[in-house]
Amino acid sequence: MTVSASGIQIARVAIVGGTGALGLGLATALGRAGCEIVIASRSAERACHTADELAKSIPDGRFEGVANAEAGMHADVVIVSVPFAGHAEIVRAMAAGLQPGQLVIDTTVPLAPAVGGKATRVLGVWQGSAAQQTAELLPPGVHLVAALHTVSAALLARPEPLAQDVLVCGDTKAAKGRATELLERIPGVRCVDCGRLEQSRITEQITALLIGINIRYKTHAGLRITGLQAS
Ligand SMILES: NC(=O)c1ccc[n+]([C@@H]2O[C@H](COP(=O)([O-])OP(=O)(O)OC[C@H]3O[C@@H](n4cnc5c(N)ncnc54)[C@H](OP(=O)(O)O)[C@@H]3O)[C@@H](O)[C@H]2O)c1
Repeated sequence: MTVSASGIQIARVAIVGGTGALGLGLATALGRAGCEIVIASRSAERACHTADELAKSIPDGRFEGVANAEAGMHADVVIVSVPFAGHAEIVRAMAAGLQPGQLVIDTTVPLAPAVGGKATRVLGVWQGSAAQQTAELLPPGVHLVAALHTVSAALLARPEPLAQDVLVCGDTKAAKGRATELLERIPGVRCVDCGRLEQSRITEQITALLIGINIRYKTHAGLRITGLQAS
């Protein structure tokens, strides 16, 4: 975390899978919100190319590109946004570069296309969820939350406020608080504490439901939880 001349804390956020749809949407939204963005990819060259393209579209932003294994060396927070097919291998590759105290936000959904199935179906994961698989692979002292499963990549990339809730699961209030502080920098985002990391078994599945709604209604559906105090 660095501090700008105006005294505002600037988060450095690495996005593993930052060359993909959700990663690019998050890089755009968080970059516009003043975060320094590190795009991580299986190919450092592809990451640098994406970072250069982002810098062209957001001239005030700060973007760089690195290989996945280096993601944690360059950031306070690492967002994992990859298809489930590559998830375990990629988390293993980046885990070696993580330090105690860093925060990982996992957005991964175990959608069935990972094994040739439909995007409206979710695979069973032995650990319970993709995020719980991540928990097994991270070094001790690295904090983890699961979030962003219900947010559309296409809407994140647009300049309009998102007007959606982001469901956040994690085993400590501190980690969920850090994730909330970061994600609520995106205009129109309200984070909702959904309980322990094991609840990601439910929140990951909602993506498949929304994909079906998107297909039927030709839209980018999202969630608003009612009955909470407005923020
Ligand atoms: N798209 C959405 O609106 C959305 C919304 C909520 C949640 N999610 C979840 O977020 C994750 C990322 O979704 P996405 O739509 O951004 O996916 P995507 O565009 O297909 O892939 C994201 C990036 O993951 C990397 N990757 C690593 N292993 C891969 C593999 N085996 N096959 C393909 N790409 C691989 C690729 O980057 P490099 O080749 O540069 O390494 C790719 O650019 C998924 O788990 C998805 O379910 C997506």
